[in-house]
Amino acid sequence: MWYFFSKAFFSYLHGMYAFGLEECGLYGDAETEADKALNLNRFDCWASHAKAHVLEMNGRHKEGKEFMYRTEDDWKKGWMIATHNYWHTALFHIEFGEYEDALSIFDREISKRFLRSNSLLDMVDASSILWRLELEGVDVGKDRWRKLEHLAKYIDNHSIVFNDVHLGVALYKQGDLETEKNLRASLEKYTNVLSEDNAKISKEIGMPLYDGMLDYARCDYDTAAETMFPIRDKVVQIGGSHAQRDVFVQTLIQSCIMSKDPKNWSLTPQLLIERETMKHDSLLGQRLAEKFRARHPL
Ligand SMILES: *[C@@H]1O[C@H](CO)[C@@H](O)[C@H](O)[C@H]1NC(C)=O
Ligand SMILES: *[C@@H]1O[C@H](CO)[C@@H](O)[C@H](O)[C@H]1NC(C)=O
Repeated sequence: MWYFFSKAFFSYLHGMYAFGLEECGLYGDAETEADKALNLNRFDCWASHAKAHVLEMNGRHKEGKEFMYRTEDDWKKGWMIATHNYWHTALFHIEFGEYEDALSIFDREISKRFLRSNSLLDMVDASSILWRLELEGVDVGKDRWRKLEHLAKYIDNHSIVFNDVHLGVALYKQGDLETEKNLRASLEKYTNVLSEDNAKISKEIGMPLYDGMLDYARCDYDTAAETMFPIRDKVVQIGGSHAQRDVFVQTLIQSCIMSKDPKNWSLTPQLLIERETMKHDSLLGQRLAEKFRARHPL
């Protein structure tokens, strides 16, 4: 009896352990655990997700893309994480500059799945992928942002500020500046009234991050750099994964590249090295370095 249960559900232990190891930077061990899980149960989509993280952080983007498509029919059944696994697939495409493929994953899967689930995780994935494409210079169009309907209902949630930042960006990009302002005010109120850990972190790290991201959206690159640079080492505290928080790293680097004040843009090489330390062999990182050199030749 016990043997039956342990066999049936054992993959989930390996899959969960894999993701924990991955977030601790133990990529080799994480991959071993993810593979163990998937050998026991190829439908363990949390384990597929952990494996995608390892391939992303190791810079094994080609392998990552192949893995996601080869196993798509296995993980797309997992309704809670399927959108997120599509988001990982889109990240691999963005690394290669395959923007049309990433957009098509947004159109086909991510935006539609968000409209069906109304889940905050799906909202985050949708906002993140469009923002990342815009950082790469892709015109995603206001209509795509507007596909994320009824965002106003999330503005008082604040379960983690990581969500609030993605929500604020999406509202701004939709052109719904009033709801964005209401979100910002609601977040500020939440952080001032409560003293729990989440409120404290939201105030000290989340609010500057929120403001910096919105400064970038308003093309105020110097203020964005000035706001986000001092908190960059603490952003880990707001939650999300390394792969997810890379959107903030990319935005800070772009802010520095685009800023006019040499005090800001001269920070770029250091930030590029910091990112490469976290995320090896990133083609996107190479594009950022080229953009920096083009704007600020020696
Ligand atoms: C925030 O959203 C989560 C996930 O949908 C939900 O469980 C939680 O109750 C919400 N919290 C508030 C304060 O609305
Ligand atoms: C970035 O530029 C702003 C505006 O010019 C300036 O006030 C700030 O000191 C700069 N930031 C850093 C980290 O030097």
